[in-house]
Amino acid sequence: MSLIGNLKYVFTGGKGGVGKTVIAAALAYDQASRGRKTLLVSLNPVHSLSSLFGQDFSGNKIVKVKDVDNLYAVEVEIEDAVERYKERITTRLREFFKWAEIPINPEPFINIATTNPAFQEAAMFDKVMDIIVKESKEYDIVVFDTAAVANAIRLIGLSKLYGLWLTRMIQSRKEALETRYKMSFKKDKVLEEIKKDPIIMDLVALYDKFKVTRSILTDSSKTGFYFVTIPQALPISVVKRFISMVRNFEIPIGGVFVNMVLVKDQVEKDTTGYLKAKYEEQQRYLEMIRRDLGEYIRGYVKIYDRDITGIDYIKYVVDDLYNFKPE
Ligand SMILES: Nc1ncnc2c1ncn2[C@@H]1O[C@H](COP(=O)(O)OP(=O)(O)O)[C@@H](O)[C@H]1O
Ligand SMILES: [Mg+2]
Repeated sequence: MSLIGNLKYVFTGGKGGVGKTVIAAALAYDQASRGRKTLLVSLNPVHSLSSLFGQDFSGNKIVKVKDVDNLYAVEVEIEDAVERYKERITTRLREFFKWAEIPINPEPFINIATTNPAFQEAAMFDKVMDIIVKESKEYDIVVFDTAAVANAIRLIGLSKLYGLWLTRMIQSRKEALETRYKMSFKKDKVLEEIKKDPIIMDLVALYDKFKVTRSILTDSSKTGFYFVTIPQALPISVVKRFISMVRNFEIPIGGVFVNMVLVKDQVEKDTTGYLKAKYEEQQRYLEMIRRDLGEYIRGYVKIYDRDITGIDYIKYVVDDLYNFKPE
């Protein structure tokens, strides 16, 4: 059995710096070496996949990872995604104001909608949806390394509401067009217009994309959200918070990985006493992880004496995930 079973969509989440990218890469590497065509997607404001693999993945293009069969990677440029998303939202809002015949300047609304702090996360989630409905068709598995997991969770959670809202929007747009049709003298021309109505087309497309994404992301046979922690207070509480959020929204929890675990041999070589104190502190937090998150633990990774870069070190991480367990 592989670490993540046969899932098609895998997300890694957790506090910054705990090793989400390293674990995502290790999971992707492991899946690829099991013969599954794998896409590793980085959706972070600052990317680290390129330095992790020692290969340039920047520029939004999917690239084959050198010397690794079946593994592909891409770093999505958030700025570009945000810019394109902003353009789409702007058009949508302008159309909406025009159609609703609201005689005010839409620009301030566009500004509010596109400069609020959640906008970047919404843009990233939109990109995730695009990858799920399009690019992912060519792969057996997609591993998402994204900082916006919390936002994804919220949006999936809210998607029922969002779906209802979109249905209402589509309905009322149809009604408005119908009234126009009934009242017009040139029915053929109006019908032509209605068929090409940009607002309906846009809303329907958005609705479909959301519906498909929601059904995939709430399906535990396809999707798993994995959380990464280290044996320390804050990262553990971040994971706990994520898990309770996810539980409320029917989102499948894949499990928890515990990274950067000190082992006894390392500690004994250290003469300063620093590592010994660290080690003892870790023991307490490991105990807490076992107590509070025990059912979710899927693997442990040792702490290494240098950054995880290059295939060899990624392999060590994979090996730990399967075989290492703190004493
Ligand atoms: N088990 C480990 N041992 C040593 N260094 C690690 C380990 N896991 C991660 N790192 C290093 O810690 C840093 C943060 O890891 P990263 O995966 O980028 O975290 P995140 O994606 O959660 O911000 C990186 O420099 C990485 O090489
Ligand atoms: Mg990262």
